[in-house]
Amino acid sequence: MDITADVKLLGVMGHPIGHSKSPVMHNAALRSQRLPYVYLAFDVKPEQLGEAVQGLRAIGARGWNVTIPHKVAIMPFLDEISEEADTLGAVNTVVCEDGRLLGRNTDAEGYLQALVEETGIHLEGQRVLIVGAGGAARAVTYALSRAGVSYIVIANRTLERAEQVASLASKWTESKAVGIDGIGKYIGDCTLVVNTTSVGMFPRTNASPFDPRLLPDGIVVSDLIYNPEKTLLLHEAEARNCTIQNGLGMFVYQGALAYEMWTGQVAPIDVMRKAVARE
Ligand code: ATR
Repeated sequence: MDITADVKLLGVMGHPIGHSKSPVMHNAALRSQRLPYVYLAFDVKPEQLGEAVQGLRAIGARGWNVTIPHKVAIMPFLDEISEEADTLGAVNTVVCEDGRLLGRNTDAEGYLQALVEETGIHLEGQRVLIVGAGGAARAVTYALSRAGVSYIVIANRTLERAEQVASLASKWTESKAVGIDGIGKYIGDCTLVVNTTSVGMFPRTNASPFDPRLLPDGIVVSDLIYNPEKTLLLHEAEARNCTIQNGLGMFVYQGALAYEMWTGQVAPIDVMRKAVARE
């Protein structure tokens, strides 16, 4: 596609942003559908976040993704916050409608779509263990607790943070917070285990967030890490006949949902997935 005067601007703002796979993923999708947008990476220092937001509004950007460290800090600069973003306390997508900036969050729905699509899981009645209690854990908890699961146990190194996430879940389902050493007591009854911590990520790939020998046979194990493609936890899960899923799908689907909000087109999931995998 030629860059003409009617091409609209999309992007991702973060700091640092050099390793983001979003530009490659979105531009591949836009090219494949011949849509008149370009998607760029904006390295925005925290002290210039407000200026960057006003600048993008002023030049008529259609929208952008928001990543670390701006997901929470951007909220006061926006005109409207969706219910999901408000509940999660974080924005990952901004959509500009006639100069008004709407903050949204596609992480929870992105996770849910990837999980169902890739594992074929039926969420109703699942007994869930979520390891970790950061922003990613909040999104996963929000998604699963509203999807009809039986209960959710949140395990985290810092118990107090696990309690905060469990209280988010308690609006929709039974929930409990435990420390990492509480995992052994609960995991035996679980049918879905999700790792949301960074433990096991490159370069420390010989680490696991908990002793994988605790994993029950034949359950679903989901790890939000996608570098490496198969963490030690997922290797061990596979050896126990578990259905496994890594974090690539969540990344692709959260992006696909944003893409659909900006362009109004159904996102080409396979094109996006292949573009990220190639990187
Ligand atoms: P994100 O937004 O990606 O979820 P985060 O908010 O920094 O990132 O959360 C990181 C999560 O990984 C937390 O649950 C953190 O545990 P604490 O709340 O106790 O800090 C967990 N985590 C990170 N490194 C860890 C480690 N070495 N052992 C156990 N948990 C770890």
